[in-house]
Amino acid sequence: IGGVQIATDDVVKENDPTNNVPDSIFAKLGMQLHRRENHPLGILKKTIYDYFDINFPGKFEKFDDLCPIVTVKQNFDDVLVPPDHVSRSYNDTYYVNSDTVLRCHTSAHQAELFRNGHTHFLVTGDVYRRDSIDGTHYPVFHQMEGVRVFSPEDWSGSDMDGTAYAAADLKRSLEGLAKHLFGAVEMRWVDTYFPFTNPSYELEIFFQGKWLEVLGCGVTEQAILHASGRTDIVAWAFGLGLERLAMVLFDIPDIRLFWSSDERFTSQFSEGKLGVKFKPFSKFPPCYKDMSFWINDGFTENNLCEIVRGIAGDLVEEVTLIDNFTNKKGMTSHCYRITYRSMERSLTDDEINELQEQVREAVQNKLNVVLR
Ligand code: PHE
Repeated sequence: IGGVQIATDDVVKENDPTNNVPDSIFAKLGMQLHRRENHPLGILKKTIYDYFDINFPGKFEKFDDLCPIVTVKQNFDDVLVPPDHVSRSYNDTYYVNSDTVLRCHTSAHQAELFRNGHTHFLVTGDVYRRDSIDGTHYPVFHQMEGVRVFSPEDWSGSDMDGTAYAAADLKRSLEGLAKHLFGAVEMRWVDTYFPFTNPSYELEIFFQGKWLEVLGCGVTEQAILHASGRTDIVAWAFGLGLERLAMVLFDIPDIRLFWSSDERFTSQFSEGKLGVKFKPFSKFPPCYKDMSFWINDGFTENNLCEIVRGIAGDLVEEVTLIDNFTNKKGMTSHCYRITYRSMERSLTDDEINELQEQVREAVQNKLNVVLR
């Protein structure tokens, strides 16, 4: 697929109820936007590499073509995601079969890299999440993971224990990274929770008038580090979403544009030029269609969005719940507004009506809801 050999036949069975990956998602495997030098994601990746190369010469190893099809163990168990965590559900994650998923984060590779003895590394790749549809969410996006391991001799000369030492180094290193990408901005650290780190933080910067979350990070849980065979080390880890940062750095208004092969988009970016502002080639008009139906117990918005995306592809810009009520008989009705818009051309009434008709039929047949 896309020039990369991925033997999907090995893992995908026809009509397998444990597989919830539609063809439209499988088609994205192997696209590797983050490996294109003149693509905003490739340019951003390279700029982050530069920061680590300048500040830690020769230290950080880079991985950017690890296979996105991983085991449930790699994606969840190895990084201590609890058995009942929502991210494990079929509603949130793409399962190729009951023990294989499309990775939902680059943290899926931490344990194997520790096991293989790596101590300083950056892992960049495509990650997959079932989600609702709007201008900043797309079921495939890109993350970069960074990890650094310390040994007792690193912190023994300081007055800190290993955890405090790693946390201080983490904050210093990532503040430097944010400055490298955004210039002199105001920053703040927010305490948070991840299953794989403790303590855990989010870094936010004040940019274009708002606080923007840049990344999640923390001091790696000891149990994960045991994969390395050592019990005397500590590490920090961070994970950042490339699209979120590229959208603000390059002024890219809609996440679907990253997938565009329209030359009016692709020609605006070149290697080494971070933050060149994207000039929209024109904003084509949106077209809104509403649909109402009585939902059933198993209904989820993610399932609806998957169907809409499967039919309309990148012509769907947003799916929003605009009305929701329950009648006296206990039946619940939802009304969704679907916004159709192309980034590249004007849409005709006929084609949108045709798409909406197909969406209505598929929603009725596949979700077992009753159209109103
Ligand atoms: N994996 C986390 C996410 O996807 C990000 C993260 C990585 C947080 C490493 C902490 C440490 O949201």
